[in-house]
Amino acid sequence: MSADSQKQAAGEAAAALVEDGMVVGLGTGSTAAWFVRALAARGLDIRGVPTSDSTSDLARELGIPLVALDDVRRVDLTIDGADEVGPGLSLIKGGGAALLREKLVWEASNRCVVIADAAKQVKVLGTFPLPIEVVRFGHVHTGQRLADIAAEFDLPPPRLRRSDRGLVITDGGNLIYDMMSGRIEEPAVLAAALKSVTGVVDHGLFLDLADEAMVGTDAGVVRLTP
Ligand code: A5P
Repeated sequence: MSADSQKQAAGEAAAALVEDGMVVGLGTGSTAAWFVRALAARGLDIRGVPTSDSTSDLARELGIPLVALDDVRRVDLTIDGADEVGPGLSLIKGGGAALLREKLVWEASNRCVVIADAAKQVKVLGTFPLPIEVVRFGHVHTGQRLADIAAEFDLPPPRLRRSDRGLVITDGGNLIYDMMSGRIEEPAVLAAALKSVTGVVDHGLFLDLADEAMVGTDAGVVRLTP
C-alpha cells in the first residue's frame, strides 16, 4: 500500500468521527486534505475552522462552511496530519509551514486527532527537521540565538527555509528556520528553550496535544492513544 493510500485511509477513518453540529478544526497537508475531502463527501451540517489559507481554499471549493477561530468559543474536534508521531503522541509538525495556525486551533480544541501514514511513526522524534517560526524583523539575530541553542544541544545551526521562489513566508507573514536534530531526546526541554527566544513565534513540537492518532498501515487504520 502506498503512503498516499495510507494517508487516504486515515483521513477517511477520521472523517467518520465528525458529527452533525460540530465545529471542526481542519488540518493542513496532504493527509489532512484527504480528511477534508472525505468530510465534505459526508455532507454534514458542520462548520470548519481552517488551519491555513490552502486548507481554507480547499474547504471552500468543496462547499464546507467556514468560521474564523475567533468566532467560536471552542473547536469540538480537530483532525490534522503530522511530520512525525513519536512516543506519547508527541509530534513534529510544520513541514507545510502552517504550524502556528495549526497549534492555535489545536489548543482551542476539545479533542485533537492526528492522522498519518505508517512511515510517520518514530521511536524518537527528530529525523524530520524541526520547523521554528520567527518574525521577520531581526530574523538574522533570532537565527543566531537559535544557533546558540542548537549548539547547547550539540546540533548544527538551523537553516532558513527557502523555496525556488525565495524565502518561505508563512500565512502569518513570518519566516521558518528548520533545525536538524537527528534525535530529540527531551522534546519538552528543547521546546521551552526555543520559546524563550523573543523572535520565535512558535515551533513544530506538539507535546501533550494529541488525544488520539489514526495511522494508516497495510493492515488497516490503527488507533493509538498517548
Ligand atoms: C503542515 O504545516 C504540517 O504540520 C502538516 O500537517 C504535516 O507537514 C503533514 O503533512 P502531510 O500530511 O502532507 O505529510
